[in-house]
Amino acid sequence: MAKLRWLGHAAWHIEVDGKSVLIDPFITNNPAAPVKLDELGKVDCVIVTHEHFDHLGDAFEICKRNDALFVALYELKVRAEQDGVKRTVGANIGGTFTADGLRLTFVPAVHTGNPSGVVIHGSDVTIYHAGDTALFGDMRLIGQLYRPDVALLPIGSLFTMGPQEAAVAASLVKPKVVIPMHYNTFDAIRQDPKQFERLVRAKAKGVKVVVLNPGESFEYARKGARKG
Ligand code: NI
Ligand code: MN
Repeated sequence: MAKLRWLGHAAWHIEVDGKSVLIDPFITNNPAAPVKLDELGKVDCVIVTHEHFDHLGDAFEICKRNDALFVALYELKVRAEQDGVKRTVGANIGGTFTADGLRLTFVPAVHTGNPSGVVIHGSDVTIYHAGDTALFGDMRLIGQLYRPDVALLPIGSLFTMGPQEAAVAASLVKPKVVIPMHYNTFDAIRQDPKQFERLVRAKAKGVKVVVLNPGESFEYARKGARKG
């Protein structure tokens, strides 16, 4: 089972297979963040999709405080080391690897600044965090190869897909559940998640939309799901 707590923007606190994992932990200066850095509790692993400030966020600081493992593409891992992070894994877009007992795959994202998405292969749940990305056709391959149960897709537009593109992304990836992210953090990325929900219903039959508020969690295991 996995518990996914949305920390606003593209930041997630995911508990999976006994690990406490943060993705894109933009907490300080994130107007949507429901927590402060010292309220995160124990963190085992921090995964960052790309270097932009709203994704790298507090990653280095959290890793230092928790002796947590920093996982990102190679160039960003080098920056983490230069910043004093002790435990790092530098990977690249490609195959599946194990870091701290977690099976992970970095996948493409169409964006600037050396971007990636990431797939977490838990024992009974597979999660796809798309990072910042435009819509691209090879999302279909991500769906076919890894069969994500839960997809976290940006819908804010301006910097990423908007609701229309993200609904098509949902139809390509075909997860059981899609949760929108990267919207309403700032005025420039204001969106109505209900509009996204309507578009997914029209374009991606069988994909369930779960809309969270920052601070809310969603629990998923392959047998069933519930919002908590
Ligand atoms: Ni970005
Ligand atoms: Mn971003």
